[in-house]
Amino acid sequence: MNLRDAAAIHPFPGIAQLEWLAGQMRGAAVRESTKCLSQLAGLFQDQSAYQASDPQSIVYRVQWCEPVSQGTEGGLFWGVTHIEPGRVGEEYFMTHGHFHQERDRSEFYGCVKGEGILLLKNERQSWHESMRAGSLHYIPGLAAHRVINTGDVPLVFWACWPSDAGHDYGPITTDGLGLRVLRGDTGPCVVAVPVPARDTQ
Ligand SMILES: [Fe+2]
Repeated sequence: MNLRDAAAIHPFPGIAQLEWLAGQMRGAAVRESTKCLSQLAGLFQDQSAYQASDPQSIVYRVQWCEPVSQGTEGGLFWGVTHIEPGRVGEEYFMTHGHFHQERDRSEFYGCVKGEGILLLKNERQSWHESMRAGSLHYIPGLAAHRVINTGDVPLVFWACWPSDAGHDYGPITTDGLGLRVLRGDTGPCVVAVPVPARDTQ
């Protein structure tokens, strides 16, 4: 579906009320999703600690709105994520992370409050950016992205992404992003981890 067809179906009404500093969205069109530890199997480094953790512990919550249907070319989605403070072993709570299904689609993250790290990875390299109140992050196309809460309070950030971006969680689940964020003696540490080699034939 292209944007002209979508506009004929959806009248683009005022779709949500935002509480900017709280990171909350309200309105009938607002969707919500919650991820608990049981839904993040295989992501954390310390599997013994993961098995010993409460599987019902909430790791993050997402609210978002879709003024056009998923897959529409030329539209935008808007949302907010709250990542709870916590760890599995020495590894901080984090989002699952994903590539976009349409790999070249970009995204903005804007941090409202809390402290964290944005991990990114493309075909050539992995890198990271610090997130704090007011920080704006441009996630370029072709880059996988994951957010880690390294603080003692929820990390909250707004996001805006193309309606035809989609999400591809598979490569992150199997390969990670080449970096992990662990608690160190003096605070959070970003450590390099090997990414499995893939046969590209
Ligand atoms: Fe994304």
